[in-house]
Amino acid sequence: MQEIKAVIFDLDGVVVDTAIFHYKAWKRLADEYGFDFTPEHNEKLKGISRLESLDILLSIGGIEIDSIDERNRIANLKNDWYRDYILKMTPNDILPGVKNFLIDLKNTNYKIAIGSSSKNANTILERIGFDSFFDAVVDGLQISKSKPDPEVFLKAAAKLNINPENCMVFEDAAAGIEAAKRAGMLAIGVGKYEHLSNADKVIPDFSNMNVLMIDNLTK
Ligand code: BG6
Ligand code: MG
Repeated sequence: MQEIKAVIFDLDGVVVDTAIFHYKAWKRLADEYGFDFTPEHNEKLKGISRLESLDILLSIGGIEIDSIDERNRIANLKNDWYRDYILKMTPNDILPGVKNFLIDLKNTNYKIAIGSSSKNANTILERIGFDSFFDAVVDGLQISKSKPDPEVFLKAAAKLNINPENCMVFEDAAAGIEAAKRAGMLAIGVGKYEHLSNADKVIPDFSNMNVLMIDNLTK
Protein backbone atom coordinates (compact mmCIF):
# COMPACT_ATOMS: atom_id res chain seq x y z
CA MET A 1 0.00 0.00 0.00
CA GLN A 2 1.35 3.42 -1.00
CA GLU A 3 1.62 5.91 1.86
CA ILE A 4 -0.06 9.10 0.66
CA LYS A 5 1.39 12.39 1.89
CA ALA A 6 0.21 14.73 -0.86
CA VAL A 7 -2.82 15.03 -3.08
CA ILE A 8 -2.53 16.71 -6.48
CA PHE A 9 -5.66 17.94 -8.24
CA ASP A 10 -6.14 18.59 -11.90
CA LEU A 11 -8.13 21.84 -12.21
CA ASP A 12 -10.38 21.80 -15.30
CA GLY A 13 -13.15 19.24 -14.78
CA VAL A 14 -11.99 18.24 -11.28
CA VAL A 15 -12.08 21.34 -9.04
CA VAL A 16 -14.34 23.32 -11.37
CA ASP A 17 -16.50 22.41 -14.34
CA THR A 18 -14.49 24.39 -16.88
CA ALA A 19 -14.24 21.30 -19.10
CA ILE A 20 -17.70 22.26 -20.41
CA PHE A 21 -16.47 25.80 -21.21
CA HIS A 22 -13.51 24.39 -23.15
CA TYR A 23 -15.95 22.17 -25.05
CA LYS A 24 -18.32 25.04 -25.84
CA ALA A 25 -15.48 27.24 -27.14
CA TRP A 26 -14.02 24.44 -29.31
CA LYS A 27 -17.49 23.57 -30.57
CA ARG A 28 -18.07 27.19 -31.60
CA LEU A 29 -14.88 27.00 -33.66
CA ALA A 30 -15.95 23.71 -35.28
CA ASP A 31 -19.38 25.23 -36.03
CA GLU A 32 -17.68 28.12 -37.82
CA TYR A 33 -15.76 25.61 -39.96
CA GLY A 34 -19.00 23.67 -40.54
CA PHE A 35 -18.20 20.31 -38.95
CA ASP A 36 -19.63 18.43 -36.00
CA PHE A 37 -17.66 18.32 -32.77
CA THR A 38 -19.18 15.95 -30.23
CA PRO A 39 -18.59 15.45 -26.47
CA GLU A 40 -16.92 12.16 -27.43
CA HIS A 41 -14.43 14.02 -29.67
CA ASN A 42 -13.87 16.44 -26.80
CA GLU A 43 -12.63 13.63 -24.52
CA LYS A 44 -9.47 13.50 -26.68
CA LEU A 45 -8.73 17.16 -25.93
CA LYS A 46 -9.03 16.95 -22.16
CA GLY A 47 -5.74 17.54 -20.39
CA ILE A 48 -3.97 18.43 -23.66
CA SER A 49 -2.43 21.87 -24.32
CA ARG A 50 -4.29 24.53 -26.30
CA LEU A 51 -2.27 24.22 -29.51
CA GLU A 52 -2.21 20.40 -29.43
CA SER A 53 -5.99 20.50 -28.89
CA LEU A 54 -6.37 22.74 -31.93
CA ASP A 55 -4.40 20.27 -34.06
CA ILE A 56 -6.65 17.39 -32.93
CA LEU A 57 -9.78 19.46 -33.58
CA LEU A 58 -8.64 20.45 -37.08
CA SER A 59 -7.80 16.84 -37.93
CA ILE A 60 -11.30 15.77 -36.79
CA GLY A 61 -12.69 18.37 -39.22
CA GLY A 62 -10.28 17.31 -41.97
CA ILE A 63 -8.88 20.86 -42.09
CA GLU A 64 -5.23 21.61 -42.79
CA ILE A 65 -3.69 24.92 -41.71
CA ASP A 66 0.05 25.02 -42.27
CA SER A 67 0.72 28.56 -41.04
CA ILE A 68 1.77 28.64 -37.38
CA ASP A 69 0.66 32.28 -37.17
CA GLU A 70 -2.81 31.31 -38.36
CA ARG A 71 -2.99 28.38 -35.94
CA ASN A 72 -1.97 30.73 -33.10
CA ARG A 73 -4.60 33.26 -34.20
CA ILE A 74 -7.34 30.61 -34.11
CA ALA A 75 -6.17 29.23 -30.76
CA ASN A 76 -6.23 32.78 -29.35
CA LEU A 77 -9.75 33.25 -30.66
CA LYS A 78 -10.88 30.07 -28.91
CA ASN A 79 -9.14 31.28 -25.75
CA ASP A 80 -10.97 34.65 -25.91
CA TRP A 81 -14.31 32.82 -26.09
CA TYR A 82 -13.24 30.51 -23.26
CA ARG A 83 -12.12 33.44 -21.09
CA ASP A 84 -15.55 35.08 -21.50
CA TYR A 85 -16.89 32.09 -19.55
CA ILE A 86 -14.21 31.84 -16.87
CA LEU A 87 -14.19 35.57 -16.10
CA LYS A 88 -17.78 35.18 -14.89
CA MET A 89 -16.91 32.36 -12.48
CA THR A 90 -17.40 32.71 -8.72
CA PRO A 91 -16.69 30.47 -5.69
CA ASN A 92 -20.14 28.93 -6.38
CA ASP A 93 -18.57 27.19 -9.38
CA ILE A 94 -16.39 24.95 -7.22
CA LEU A 95 -17.71 21.43 -7.83
CA PRO A 96 -19.77 19.81 -5.03
CA GLY A 97 -17.73 18.34 -2.18
CA VAL A 98 -14.39 19.68 -3.40
CA LYS A 99 -13.94 22.53 -0.92
CA ASN A 100 -14.83 20.42 2.12
CA PHE A 101 -12.49 17.68 0.97
CA LEU A 102 -9.64 20.17 0.48
CA ILE A 103 -10.19 21.68 3.93
CA ASP A 104 -10.27 18.17 5.39
CA LEU A 105 -6.96 17.35 3.68
CA LYS A 106 -5.33 20.53 4.97
CA ASN A 107 -6.54 19.91 8.50
CA THR A 108 -5.11 16.38 8.36
CA ASN A 109 -1.71 17.70 7.22
CA TYR A 110 -1.76 16.36 3.70
CA LYS A 111 -0.02 18.66 1.21
CA ILE A 112 -2.30 19.79 -1.61
CA ALA A 113 -1.39 21.00 -5.09
CA ILE A 114 -2.83 21.85 -8.49
CA GLY A 115 -1.33 20.18 -11.57
CA SER A 116 -2.93 21.66 -14.69
CA SER A 117 -2.02 21.99 -18.38
CA SER A 118 -3.92 25.28 -18.52
CA LYS A 119 -2.36 28.70 -18.95
CA ASN A 120 -5.57 30.13 -17.44
CA ALA A 121 -5.23 28.27 -14.14
CA ASN A 122 -4.31 31.32 -12.07
CA THR A 123 -7.27 33.30 -13.44
CA ILE A 124 -9.63 30.49 -12.47
CA LEU A 125 -8.07 30.05 -9.01
CA GLU A 126 -8.47 33.81 -8.39
CA ARG A 127 -12.09 33.79 -9.57
CA ILE A 128 -13.03 30.96 -7.20
CA GLY A 129 -11.09 32.36 -4.24
CA PHE A 130 -8.40 29.66 -4.25
CA ASP A 131 -5.44 31.84 -5.27
CA SER A 132 -3.50 31.24 -2.07
CA PHE A 133 -5.14 28.01 -0.95
CA PHE A 134 -2.86 25.33 -2.37
CA ASP A 135 0.65 24.48 -1.14
CA ALA A 136 1.81 24.45 -4.78
CA VAL A 137 0.38 25.27 -8.19
CA VAL A 138 1.92 24.03 -11.44
CA ASP A 139 0.16 25.20 -14.60
CA GLY A 140 0.58 25.34 -18.36
CA LEU A 141 2.92 28.33 -18.08
CA GLN A 142 5.45 26.30 -16.08
CA ILE A 143 5.76 23.18 -18.21
CA SER A 144 7.32 22.40 -21.57
CA LYS A 145 5.35 19.20 -22.26
CA SER A 146 1.67 18.81 -21.43
CA LYS A 147 -0.12 15.66 -20.23
CA PRO A 148 0.22 12.71 -20.90
CA ASP A 149 3.83 13.70 -20.14
CA PRO A 150 4.39 13.43 -16.36
CA GLU A 151 6.22 16.80 -16.12
CA VAL A 152 3.37 18.75 -14.52
CA PHE A 153 2.87 16.24 -11.69
CA LEU A 154 6.60 15.66 -11.10
CA LYS A 155 7.05 19.44 -10.81
CA ALA A 156 4.18 19.65 -8.32
CA ALA A 157 5.70 16.87 -6.20
CA ALA A 158 9.10 18.59 -6.31
CA LYS A 159 7.55 21.90 -5.20
CA LEU A 160 5.85 20.09 -2.32
CA ASN A 161 9.07 18.26 -1.50
CA ILE A 162 7.23 14.92 -1.51
CA ASN A 163 8.34 11.78 -3.40
CA PRO A 164 6.13 10.92 -6.40
CA GLU A 165 5.21 7.52 -4.93
CA ASN A 166 3.66 9.32 -1.96
CA CYS A 167 1.35 11.40 -4.19
CA MET A 168 -2.25 10.75 -5.20
CA VAL A 169 -3.62 12.50 -8.29
CA PHE A 170 -7.27 13.26 -9.09
CA GLU A 171 -7.91 13.61 -12.84
CA ASP A 172 -10.87 13.72 -15.24
CA ALA A 173 -8.82 13.13 -18.42
CA ALA A 174 -7.33 9.94 -19.82
CA ALA A 175 -4.18 11.94 -20.70
CA GLY A 176 -3.94 13.06 -17.06
CA ILE A 177 -4.29 9.52 -15.73
CA GLU A 178 -1.45 8.43 -18.01
CA ALA A 179 0.66 11.39 -16.85
CA ALA A 180 0.09 10.52 -13.18
CA LYS A 181 0.95 6.86 -13.71
CA ARG A 182 4.09 7.75 -15.69
CA ALA A 183 5.06 9.96 -12.74
CA GLY A 184 4.77 6.90 -10.47
CA MET A 185 1.78 8.32 -8.61
CA LEU A 186 -1.55 6.81 -7.65
CA ALA A 187 -4.04 7.92 -10.32
CA ILE A 188 -7.69 8.38 -9.34
CA GLY A 189 -10.16 9.11 -12.13
CA VAL A 190 -13.02 11.53 -11.52
CA GLY A 191 -15.96 10.90 -13.82
CA LYS A 192 -17.10 7.99 -15.98
CA TYR A 193 -15.18 4.72 -15.84
CA GLU A 194 -15.48 4.27 -19.63
CA HIS A 195 -13.18 7.28 -20.16
CA LEU A 196 -10.83 6.49 -17.29
CA SER A 197 -10.32 2.74 -17.37
CA ASN A 198 -6.53 3.09 -16.91
CA ALA A 199 -6.97 4.76 -13.52
CA ASP A 200 -6.12 2.91 -10.30
CA LYS A 201 -9.63 3.74 -9.03
CA VAL A 202 -12.48 5.89 -10.34
CA ILE A 203 -14.89 8.04 -8.33
CA PRO A 204 -17.94 9.72 -9.92
CA ASP A 205 -17.33 13.07 -8.15
CA PHE A 206 -16.36 14.45 -4.72
CA SER A 207 -19.84 14.62 -3.21
CA ASN A 208 -19.19 11.70 -0.83
CA MET A 209 -15.46 12.16 -0.48
CA ASN A 210 -13.64 12.60 2.80
CA VAL A 211 -10.13 12.19 4.07
CA LEU A 212 -10.83 8.76 5.59
CA MET A 213 -11.44 7.43 2.07
CA ILE A 214 -7.84 8.13 0.99
CA ASP A 215 -6.76 4.79 2.49
CA ASN A 216 -9.50 2.90 0.61
CA LEU A 217 -8.32 4.41 -2.65
CA THR A 218 -4.80 3.08 -2.13
CA LYS A 219 -5.93 -0.55 -1.72
C1 BG6 B 1 -6.46 21.46 -19.58
C2 BG6 B 1 -7.79 21.17 -20.23
O1 BG6 B 1 -6.63 21.56 -18.21
O2 BG6 B 1 -5.92 22.68 -20.08
C3 BG6 B 1 -7.66 21.18 -21.74
O3 BG6 B 1 -8.25 19.88 -19.81
C4 BG6 B 1 -7.06 22.50 -22.18
O4 BG6 B 1 -8.93 20.98 -22.31
C5 BG6 B 1 -5.72 22.72 -21.48
O5 BG6 B 1 -6.86 22.50 -23.60
C6 BG6 B 1 -5.07 24.05 -21.86
O6 BG6 B 1 -5.88 25.06 -21.36
P1 BG6 B 1 -5.72 26.60 -21.70
O7 BG6 B 1 -6.62 27.25 -20.67
O8 BG6 B 1 -4.28 26.97 -21.51
O9 BG6 B 1 -6.18 26.80 -23.10
MG1 MG C 1 -9.14 18.11 -16.51
